[in-house]
Amino acid sequence: KDIDVVVVGAVNVDMVVNAPRLPAPGETVVGRGVERHGGGKGANAAVAAARAGGAVCYVGAVGDDDTGRQALRDLQDDGVDTSGVEVSASAPTGVALIVVGPGGENQIAVGAGANDDVTAEAVLAQLGRLLPRAGCLLVSTEIPAAAVAAAVHAARAAGVPCILNPAPVLPVVVDLLGLGPLLTPNAGECLALAEQAGVTSQEVAPGDAPPDEVPSLSSVGEAARALAELTGSELVVTLGADGVLVVDPAGTVTHVQPRPATVRDTTGAGDTFNGVLALALARGEPLDAAVRLANVAASLSVGGDGARGGMPTADELTTEAAVHAR
Ligand code: RIB
Ligand code: NA
Repeated sequence: KDIDVVVVGAVNVDMVVNAPRLPAPGETVVGRGVERHGGGKGANAAVAAARAGGAVCYVGAVGDDDTGRQALRDLQDDGVDTSGVEVSASAPTGVALIVVGPGGENQIAVGAGANDDVTAEAVLAQLGRLLPRAGCLLVSTEIPAAAVAAAVHAARAAGVPCILNPAPVLPVVVDLLGLGPLLTPNAGECLALAEQAGVTSQEVAPGDAPPDEVPSLSSVGEAARALAELTGSELVVTLGADGVLVVDPAGTVTHVQPRPATVRDTTGAGDTFNGVLALALARGEPLDAAVRLANVAASLSVGGDGARGGMPTADELTTEAAVHAR
């Protein structure tokens, strides 16, 4: 196989303001300037996998505009194959408006633009060509539900391992659980997905914790186990500064500890995790080793500005992973 990872998902241009705090509704906050970075969860994950040494193809859509051409150049500069990207005649390239607070936390609003034009037909045409050559398919959900569903079905039909990153949680994800994708939600997405799938247990029931409170590890673990029962696959929950939960199909929950990180900008940490996880799985690593490597990559990514700034090269990742394993 000559491709490690195929990624189906969104590509955006990120307009980023570093501000003294995140704005409350109706509030204006003022930062020094605006930075422009490459973004979109799909494209970010593709860059993470490529920078970590993978042969990566990205499938998605941009507009017929300068931003789109820049987005493609950014991907190509990182070695990502963009032959699977359609150019929309009508919609502009997707844009994300991002505010980053002093602790590296963020607030994001996305104008989907051309990402909303990704069709099931286009995805199937690209995957028909790419999947027979690929080790892993990574699908994220900032594109239409029909395109997400087409991709997950295609992976299943081709017998290619599929990671489904439900960010954001679209209702279609629940319909795809039976196809056995490896889900990689964060804590909030995990709880939302369990609720949508109707497997919210007593322990997870609302009322346990006031809204806005960080969900407890045990409630997230319970939701993850219930979801893993539905997919029959392993499930991985990313917990940011708290590390990662891994649930195996038998329901055993393992907590992978975080690697201490210098935090500048947490944007794209989840995308980095997903891209490197996909690469490691494509290369035949067992899940626990793949999760540990992805965890180290994500912790390095938050040290650089923008979604892609801190994503490690293969050498950086190998060095840090060796240090972290001690
Ligand atoms: O996950 C981070 C990404 O989410 C940003 O790059 C932004 O484009 C949004 O899609
Ligand atoms: Na970053």
